[in-house]
Amino acid sequence: MKFFIDTANLREIEEAHDLGVLDGVTTNPSLMAKEGIKGKSAILAHYKAICDITDGDVSAEVISTDLEGMIREGEELVKIDPKIVVKIPMIKEGVKAISYFTKKGIRTNCTLVFSGGQALLAAKAGATYVSPFIGRLDDISFDGMDLIHQIRTVYDNYGYETQILAASIRHTIHIMKCAEVGADVITSPLSSIMGLLNHPLTTSGLEKFISDAQKLNL
Ligand code: G3P
Repeated sequence: MKFFIDTANLREIEEAHDLGVLDGVTTNPSLMAKEGIKGKSAILAHYKAICDITDGDVSAEVISTDLEGMIREGEELVKIDPKIVVKIPMIKEGVKAISYFTKKGIRTNCTLVFSGGQALLAAKAGATYVSPFIGRLDDISFDGMDLIHQIRTVYDNYGYETQILAASIRHTIHIMKCAEVGADVITSPLSSIMGLLNHPLTTSGLEKFISDAQKLNL
């Protein structure tokens, strides 16, 4: 399973990269706004800075909701760096844009996916990635993991190559459930990735080894 980090914060991307487990980055307009990035040239420069840190794919989201606008933005975004994947919302014009980019060999990430039907459409349009938002489903009392499971089954039934990129990850259990169900990728805040490290028996076991090592007169 690939690990993407879901942030536009360069320090967090560097920290995940330094851990040696980072396979890519996803961003969205909310995450860019959180970093205080303003203006088109600053946004494009920020995407380039992200691409310079990671070796993997970087999802950059279009803001337009009409087909022409999405195509114009997407074509501009992919000129930044070969790692850029155009992130497109799951709306009617978005499906058309994904089909357009697929025919041109431009990679896409279909975002804001909340149902199996939406994921099926994204795959038929040729999306490289589909992003089901599991945390936001959990927030409204639907089990986000059920959706990951359903999409896995549907894609496997027909051999769709679209990768399931589980998004809106809120904690380490989400990551581990995604691994069990067979998501291709998780995109997660740094805190949830780092949370995988923790176990109290590791902490206490290491303390004991260190204190016993001091008796060895090394
Ligand atoms: O990649 C989508 C993700 O950023 C949404 O996460 O926590 O805002 O639901 P969240």
